[in-house]
Amino acid sequence: MKSLIQMTLAAAAAALLVACSGGEPNAPGGNGNGNGSKPIVLGFSQIGAESEWRTANTRSIQEAAPAAGITLKFSDAQQKQENQIKALRSFIAQRVDVIAFSPVVETGWETVLREAKTANIPVILTDRAVEVSDSTLYLSLIGSDFVEEGRKAGRWLLENYSTGAGKDVKGDINIVELQGTVGSAPANDRKKGFAEIIAAEPRFKIIRSQTGDFTRAKGKEVMEAFLKAEGKKINVLFAHNDDMAIGAIQAIEEAGLKPGTDITIVSIDGVKGAFEAMIAGKLNVTVECSPLLGPQLMDAVKQVAAGKEIPKRIVTEESVFPKETAAQVLPTRKY
Ligand code: AHR
Repeated sequence: MKSLIQMTLAAAAAALLVACSGGEPNAPGGNGNGNGSKPIVLGFSQIGAESEWRTANTRSIQEAAPAAGITLKFSDAQQKQENQIKALRSFIAQRVDVIAFSPVVETGWETVLREAKTANIPVILTDRAVEVSDSTLYLSLIGSDFVEEGRKAGRWLLENYSTGAGKDVKGDINIVELQGTVGSAPANDRKKGFAEIIAAEPRFKIIRSQTGDFTRAKGKEVMEAFLKAEGKKINVLFAHNDDMAIGAIQAIEEAGLKPGTDITIVSIDGVKGAFEAMIAGKLNVTVECSPLLGPQLMDAVKQVAAGKEIPKRIVTEESVFPKETAAQVLPTRKY
C-alpha cells in the first residue's frame, strides 16, 4: 500500500514538472510546442538601432512573429555585447522555447551558448556569424553572405570605374574605406571580399581604412578626417553600409566636392535612403543586403520547435543596384 502511494506521488510530481516546463525538453529532438498546443516562445536579442537596415530588420522580426503565431520576447542591446549576453541569460532563465540573436561581434559567445545548450534551448543566429570552437552550439545561421557582398562591390568598381567616372584618372585609384563595427562579421567579411577582388588590379589601392561603426554620424566624422588627410587625392569611397555612405556624402559636400562625381561611392545594404541618394546622383551603387529575415526566422523556429532539422546555413538572395536603376527600383523597395 505504502509503495503504491509513493508511486502515485512520483507520477504526479513528474506530470507537474512537465506541465511547468511547457512540455518535453527543448532539444532539437522536439519541445512539444511545435504542434500548435500552445504558442512557441522565442527570445530574440537584437544588436541595436544603428542603421536604417537594422530598423527594418527589427520591424521584419516584430511583424513576422505574431503573423506566425509565435510569442516574441524582444531585447535591444544598444550595440553592446555585454547587453546581448545578459539578454541571452535572461531568456535561458525564462526557459523560452528557442533563442535567436544577431551577434554584434563574432567572438566571445562560447560560454553563454554553452549555457543555452546545457539548458536544452536551441539557438538560431540571424544576420551575423559567431566564431566558436564547437559548431553544435547553434543550429543555423540565417542571413547574407557578407564576403560575397564585398566581392560584388569590388567587381562593380573594377568593371565600371575606369570606363565611367575614372576614365581620365591616370595612375593609382585611391580608395578610402569606411568599415563597419570592429570585430563584426559584416565588417570582417566585406573588407575581405572587396580586397580579394581589387587585388587583381594593382592600380586600385586602399589608402585609408577606419571604422565608422555602421552609423551616419561616425561615417560623416571619419570621412571628414579622410578628406582632411587626403583631400582631392581620394577617388573612391567604399562604405560597408549605406548609412555610413550617407553620412560621408554630407562630409564630401561640406568639403566643396561632388559626391558620386568627384568621389565615386560604393556601398552595401540597398536601403531607401541609398536609392534616394542614387537618384540625386550622389551615390554610385549599392549592393543589396536584405534585412527582411523575419519570415525565414519564424519558419525555422517552428521547424525546430517541432523537432525537425534545419539547414546549418540559410543564405539570403540579393542583387546589385547601380544608380541608373534607382528611379525605377525605389518604388518597389520594402526597406
Ligand atoms: O549585419 C548587417 C549590417 O548591420 C548592415 O549592413 C548594417 O547596415 C547593419 O548595421
